Amino acid sequence: MKIVVREFDAEKDYQGAQKVEAMSDVGGSGSGISLTTDLLGDLTSRVRHSPPYLMLVAEVTYSEEEEETVRTEIVGVIRGCVKVVTCGKKTDTQITSTKVAYILGLRVSPNHRRMGVALELVTRLEQWFREMAGAEYAYVAIEKDNEASVSLFTEKCGYAVFRSLSILVHPVFRHHINTPRQVVIRKLESHQAEELYRLHFSTTDFFPLDINTILDNPLCLGTFLAEELGGESWAAVSIWNCMEVFRLEVTGVSKMKRGLAKVTRVLDRMFSWLKIPSFPNLFAPFGCHFLFGITGEGPLATDLLTALCTHAHNTAREGGCELVVTEVGSSDPLKSGIPHWNVLSCDADLWCIKRLSKDGGGVALWTKTDLGQTIFVDPREV
Ligand SMILES: CC(C)(COP(=O)(O)OP(=O)(O)OC[C@H]1O[C@@H](n2cnc3c(N)ncnc32)[C@H](O)[C@@H]1OP(=O)(O)O)[C@@H](O)C(=O)NCCC(=O)NCCS
Repeated sequence: MKIVVREFDAEKDYQGAQKVEAMSDVGGSGSGISLTTDLLGDLTSRVRHSPPYLMLVAEVTYSEEEEETVRTEIVGVIRGCVKVVTCGKKTDTQITSTKVAYILGLRVSPNHRRMGVALELVTRLEQWFREMAGAEYAYVAIEKDNEASVSLFTEKCGYAVFRSLSILVHPVFRHHINTPRQVVIRKLESHQAEELYRLHFSTTDFFPLDINTILDNPLCLGTFLAEELGGESWAAVSIWNCMEVFRLEVTGVSKMKRGLAKVTRVLDRMFSWLKIPSFPNLFAPFGCHFLFGITGEGPLATDLLTALCTHAHNTAREGGCELVVTEVGSSDPLKSGIPHWNVLSCDADLWCIKRLSKDGGGVALWTKTDLGQTIFVDPREV
């Protein structure tokens, strides 16, 4: 048996790679409950909005001695994309930036695990990041409980955990939520949003310098600004339509629990004025919206952010989504303004980083410097 790692060929490899995706759900906790992802027929959908990007496959060739005919099988996949982001220490006049590569969608089929396939996929992707894309760092986000992946990246591949983020998830109810009267919410033009973000995130780690391409992407449903009537506080948030990129589905939940969840939704729809906090339908393929670019200033910034999240909830409801998701640094000062359900959220998304280039330079010690509390989470990488 020989394993070859090569670039994904959509025409030739789609079925094999899709099979690996379907077999390698992330989040199976041993309880039988898992989260499956449907990439809607485009296996590069989570990276192709951040060029340059690459998807690799690991292909096994079974030799004639092992089987009657030569047969090949895709047993692993990985994706990566590269961008320039702000980083490290800055002065008032100078912004430091670096080229970082993001690794995502690593999957190895259960029958071929612990054979070094993931290690080879990561090594080959890093080689491309370094030699072809000129990236200085590579990073990956891993759920704390994913022991296999944490061990792979931190023990075998030389990554260091540098940040813990919180994934905050709010259900979309069947009823509309009213926003407070004293709050004015308006949609910004994309150039206004760009200006605001370039100003406020200029010293935030991981702020992508191509923010304009994110804001102009059709998946970006807009940037919204909330202001307090007659006050000085404000908050802003942008909405990304993940529903057009992938659908999720929770499987392995008992019929009884699914039935109870449905009852809450039926009651919520029938008696919408009661504002029943119904449990969303996560047991059939569903879509979500992702909130990014969360920022604000003033004593009431968190309250205004809560109002913006309410607005985002209503937008998601109109768009047929079941969840509104966001991700912030665990100690982000605005975190308390983001409504979420703990049962659906994850408080330990570990960001692990590795320096790829060997030469010195201004950002050589980025991972060792004190990072700020706020971090920019790129919606293209969700
Ligand atoms: C995580 C995953 C990709 C690992 O794939 P793999 O091909 O089995 O990994 P490798 O054989 O290359 O393992 C390399 C190292 O990773 C670590 N590792 C891999 N699987 C592990 C496990 N189940 N438990 C603990 N460590 C593990 C070990 O350090 C291993 O080295 P060793 O075998 O010498 O001890 C695979 O388990 C998988 O597809 N899981 C589901 C999807 C997922 O979680 N993806 C990661 C998202 S970030």
